[in-house]
Formats: sequence, structure tokens, C-alpha cells
Amino acid sequence: MAGAQFFFFLVLSLPYIVHSASPYPAPSQTLNVRTTHHNHPHRPPPSAFSTSDKFEGSSDLVHLRYHMGPVLSSPINVYLIWYGKWAPTHQSLIRDFLLSISSAPSTASPSVAEWWATVTLYTDQTGANISRSVLLAGEFSDASYSSGRSLTRLSIQHVIAAATRRGHLPIDHRNGAYLVLTSPDVTVQDFCRAVCGFHYFTFPSVAGYTLPYAWVGNSGKQCPEVCAYPFAVPTYMGGAGPRPLAPPNGDVGVDGMISVIGHELAELASNPLVNAWYAGEDPTAPTEIADLCEGLYGSGGGGGYIGQVMSDGVGRKYNLNGMKGRRFLVQWIWSPVLKACAGPNAID
Ligand SMILES: *[C@@H]1O[C@H](CO)[C@@H](O)[C@H](O)[C@H]1NC(C)=O
Repeated sequence: MAGAQFFFFLVLSLPYIVHSASPYPAPSQTLNVRTTHHNHPHRPPPSAFSTSDKFEGSSDLVHLRYHMGPVLSSPINVYLIWYGKWAPTHQSLIRDFLLSISSAPSTASPSVAEWWATVTLYTDQTGANISRSVLLAGEFSDASYSSGRSLTRLSIQHVIAAATRRGHLPIDHRNGAYLVLTSPDVTVQDFCRAVCGFHYFTFPSVAGYTLPYAWVGNSGKQCPEVCAYPFAVPTYMGGAGPRPLAPPNGDVGVDGMISVIGHELAELASNPLVNAWYAGEDPTAPTEIADLCEGLYGSGGGGGYIGQVMSDGVGRKYNLNGMKGRRFLVQWIWSPVLKACAGPNAID
């Protein structure tokens, strides 16, 4: 690989970090935008990175560190909250992705389960790995928009509190990971402008408990070119930029959400209380295990190119197989063993 390619990969793959004005540490957040490199105020100089012929994004100078907090090492019970109006076909697509994380080894390789194997390489201070087991333990449809159609970061905690208080979902301290998914008509603070998803934990004063959770929005109507990239591309790229790729399941918004859900779950598992695995000196703006590989889906990626992925018979792009013959396009994750971004569709 040319050095220039790595230069562009690193520049483009480093996450936006938006400092929160709130007194709390900023929730970890995802922005799937590719853009010109003029807009990245927090990236280190490219000379800080070494290059590797083998592993994309490889660097000895990414100081991902463990900060002694817990990881999700017990079997993970995912509780889904469908906020707003959701089509059953979209719900089953997202469910099938989540269920594929722990699906049977008979799933064709490269699989979603193999993708999660990189996440399970992270351990806590007792040496316990993140669990391989991710179960869909409960679901609640908040179809009446209990906190309105315009959510803030804090009101997402109220959505979770409402679901648990009314008994729609259990309070699962030991194994629970709560995932709030908002429909395309719901606006969320900083959505599209600065984030596509984030994870954090609820406050006892709001929810009664400290529960790790993530939010991911359907960007299909509001900003697919930001949050469902590469299935939509910014118009300013014009003819010079990459063309949008055909989503594996034919839905720009939901196929785009899948990668963001994967991103947030990987980070939730490795940094559930924002005191475990992250890089950077500033805990209010952590760079986490999926942030380091944002925009990278296959070997050779960089410079706005997502890397080598597969194509089905009609040209739809994917890099992972799931249950029921499903296919997904999900970003790679930083491997603590390879010290590089890794995914099961890597070409050696
Ligand atoms: C647990 O993590 C260690 C350290 O990364 C790794 O060597 C080992 O293979 C992991 N075990 C599992 C079951 O993933």
C-alpha cells in the first residue's frame, strides 16, 4: 500500500468528536460521514502513524488503553426499543443482524459471528473476555412517541425509563444492553449534524438505575448521505466522488443503520461505563474500538474507498453473511491483537 493511501485512510477514518456542553462526559458517538480532510480538527498529524502492508490502519501509535472498568463479559441481553413507526420488514432485518452475532457456526464465512470475534478479544482486569453470546432478550414498541418526535440526548434516557417503569422491559443490571432505535421521522439532538448514533449509560436520577444503552437513528429521510454512507453520498462530492453503493437488503436507511448498530454495540460491550477501552487522553471525548475503523469495510480501504467487499448477483454490496441467508455491510473493528482494523472478509 502506498503511504499516501494510508495517509488518507487515517485522516478520513478518524472520528469526529463533538465536545458536549453538558456537565457529563459526552456520550460516545458515531458519525459515518466521509468528508474532505479539512474538517477534522482533532486528527493527529499523519506522520504520527506508521503503515503496514498487511493490515489497514495498522499503527503502533494508536494508544488504545484499558482504564480498568468493566466490559460486557456476561452473555449480553439486548433489549430493543422501537421508537416511532417501524415497518415489520425493517424490524426483522435489524433483528436478523442482532441474532446473527451469535448464530450457528454453520453460517457461511465471512459471518457476522466472525466479525464479533474481534470484539471478544477485549478483556477486563480479571481477564474475562467480552461475551460471544448476544441474545435478543426483549422488545418494546414505543409507537406513541412517549417523549415526542424530537429527542434530546437526555430524553433518550426517559424513553428507556418509561419502558422499564411500565414493565415493558425488565431492568437487567447484570446482562442488559438497551438499544433505542428511532424511526425516520424522529429528530434527535445532534443527529445528522454531528452523530449517527451514540452509547452511554442511564443515570439513576432519570432511569432509577445505571444501565448501558445505545441509540441509533434511521437516517433514510433526514441525512442518508451522512449516516447511511456509502449507500448515499454527499452531493458536494459530485462526479469526482465515489458513487453510492447498492445496499445489501435494498433499504438505504436500515442497511445504513446496521453498520452503526454494529459500531455502537462493539463500543458498548468494550466501554459500557465509558471507563474501559478507549484511546485518547480525554475521557469526555473517547476514541473507541469502532471509531478507529469508521468507514473501513474491507482490505485496501482508505481515501474514501471502503475496501474490498463482496457483490451479490445484482450488484448489492456486503461483507458479512448472517442467518437466513441475510447479508450485511458492517464496518471493521480495531483488533487489540493485530493492532489494526480487522474483519472476517480480509484478504490476506
Ligand atoms: C480473550 O482475549 C484474549 C486477549 O485478547 C485472546 O487472546 C483470546 O483469544 C480471547 N478469547 C476468546 C474466547 O475470544
